[in-house]
Amino acid sequence: MPAASNALSAIDSAQPQSFEIRPFSGAVGAEIIGLDLTQAVNREDFKRIHRAHLDHHVLVFRDQRIRPEHQIAFSRRFGELQIHVLKQFLLQGHPEILIVSNIVEDGRNVGLGDAGKFWHSDLSYKELPSLGSMLHAQELPSEGGDTLFADMHKAWDAVPDALRTIVEGRAAAHSYTARYAETKFEGNWRPTLTAEQLAQVQEVIHPVVRTHPENGRKALFVSEGFTTRIVGLPDDESRDVLQQLYALSVLEANIYRHPWQPHDMVFWDNRSLIHLAAGCPAHLRRKLFRTTIQGDAPF
Ligand code: SIN
Repeated sequence: MPAASNALSAIDSAQPQSFEIRPFSGAVGAEIIGLDLTQAVNREDFKRIHRAHLDHHVLVFRDQRIRPEHQIAFSRRFGELQIHVLKQFLLQGHPEILIVSNIVEDGRNVGLGDAGKFWHSDLSYKELPSLGSMLHAQELPSEGGDTLFADMHKAWDAVPDALRTIVEGRAAAHSYTARYAETKFEGNWRPTLTAEQLAQVQEVIHPVVRTHPENGRKALFVSEGFTTRIVGLPDDESRDVLQQLYALSVLEANIYRHPWQPHDMVFWDNRSLIHLAAGCPAHLRRKLFRTTIQGDAPF
């Protein structure tokens, strides 16, 4: 039987699982307790998870003793997977997984060590940015290494009228290479991009304010990581407006800070949130596996 039919029949024959969805008390986020992602998730359970993802924007699946193929299969339930441009950091045999890690072994970087150094929405530099990403903990440092998530619906709600008048209906440019040179020299994480890689990450233009295709809410869609300018504004005004929008994006009240626990699998909505890796002391090992699900063209 072909792999896709196998997956469907596993879903159809999957037993219901007993699990809890516990919202966090803060801005966004909920934890999922009791679900086992080594097992296929049946359609009813999947609907609950999908609903919770839309409502809470970031879900923390606790205690997931999964292998890469489980993460890939569960990610695929939400859409097509995107392969990261930095091929050197893809997991061998599973190119759908980007290794996020600061570990250096035999003089070689095991993964992308500075992923998430600036606030960003994954792959906003693509025509079809990411719907969501899943990050599964492999090795965690004893100190630091948190990931922060900021609610971009609330960010838009916080934009004052005078600024709304300037940005509504406008578009912004996003580029993978926006901060590349700046981060390249630190830790040597960023290899020089080949012509083929550069061709895959040409600048794209997206609305500054997008409408979430599933919950219908507006969200700010710019970030210090990948946005380079607002189209049609003079450079200094564009810089100034973006700085104001960035500040409104990361208001303390709208942030969830995730302290990782062993075997956590975190799934966030890149259409509703931006995120940031807080970093950890360089001598401590941190490794996570990331899958990225393709979304729609922002509108
Ligand atoms: C990322 O931006 O995908 C990585 C986040 C993290 O390492 O905490």
